[in-house]
Amino acid sequence: MNQTNASGRIALTGVGKIYGAQKVVRDVNVTIEEGEFFSLLGPSGSGKTTTLMMIAGFAETDEGHIRLGDQDISAVPPKERGFGMVFQNYALFPHMSVADNVAFPLKVRKLSAAERRERVQWALETVKLTDFADRSPKQLSGGQQQRVALARAIVYQPRVILMDEPLGALDKNLRFHMQTEIKDIQRRLGMTVIYVTHDQEEAMNMSDRIAIMRDGQIAQLGTPAEVYQHPDSAFVGKFLGEANLLPVTATSATAALRDGATFACRDAGSGVTSEPALLFVRPEKLRLAATPTGLENDVAGRVTRVSYLGSVIRYGLDVLGQEMTADAQNLTGTPAFAEGDSLRVGWAAQDCRLLAPEGDGA
Ligand SMILES: Nc1ncnc2c1ncn2[C@@H]1O[C@H](COP(=O)(O)OP(=O)(O)O)[C@@H](O)[C@H]1O
Ligand SMILES: [Mg+2]
Repeated sequence: MNQTNASGRIALTGVGKIYGAQKVVRDVNVTIEEGEFFSLLGPSGSGKTTTLMMIAGFAETDEGHIRLGDQDISAVPPKERGFGMVFQNYALFPHMSVADNVAFPLKVRKLSAAERRERVQWALETVKLTDFADRSPKQLSGGQQQRVALARAIVYQPRVILMDEPLGALDKNLRFHMQTEIKDIQRRLGMTVIYVTHDQEEAMNMSDRIAIMRDGQIAQLGTPAEVYQHPDSAFVGKFLGEANLLPVTATSATAALRDGATFACRDAGSGVTSEPALLFVRPEKLRLAATPTGLENDVAGRVTRVSYLGSVIRYGLDVLGQEMTADAQNLTGTPAFAEGDSLRVGWAAQDCRLLAPEGDGA
């Protein structure tokens, strides 16, 4: 396979993995487009790494098919797939210089010395490590080492790069910085990236689309905004950030009751129409006021907790005997509330949706 000319589109159909008696990946169907930044996001043990390893070819595809462009690669050995790879513990060779580490895949591919020099130069420029070419890996910070690993993965210009928690060992600030750099490089080179992480912020920051995995299956697939704002299940809602999930009785796909209060939730589509349901609304969508908010949903509440987080103030609220969370941006002139204050809590119908109660397999 000529990897530089190969397509960067990867299609999984009915992909599954069985370990012993356990199906750890089940019926995964997704097409990752050429040039897309695609993330597999989910809790530990949800099958992200196993799915990536099947794409890489290091784990056998027990069920279904994996295609690269028009070619079925389900049984093609890893090396022939031509994918670049960056893993959290994909150690650099400690006894080799940075440049030699980056050149390694080119040596394996038997490129000439001149060509190697040129490509290594390009890769190190791309990850902004030109001045570090002669250092040894142990003279580099964690972030710099991950950039070397990235340079080594892009040096032969694969169409597809697979990454498994590549920033897991870095501290929060550096991680954010590296996310932006990886994203920039991916865009510039037009590579397809399949990225595994358990960090929802990381996935949202980098991805064109995210597949949220649960128990070996894709629970939901969409752009960051789609999955964050319109989760189809309480699981996805909670996994992607703070979520209010108020137990209610749905009377239709867009209306619900609790303790005599009625709610309008216009963000329909999760399939709930009646019976016990959860009213989903994000904390930043709640408006707090001393007088009625004028929004379609408006109930009395009481402040039970105030957390000053800097850019936002997070309020714990008692609403109809249920705990809710509201995030207020810490703007100049925003009224601040204190513990014990009674207030009105409002939110727009378009900002809430009704979800199936948990434990329904939803
Ligand atoms: N080689 C293996 N043998 C047996 N079970 C495995 C193996 N690799 C992974 N598993 C199991 O498969 C499930 C999914 O694991 P994994 O794909 O590593 O999840 P994630 O990357 O989302 O944390 C887990 O229950 C894990 O214990
Ligand atoms: Mg993993």
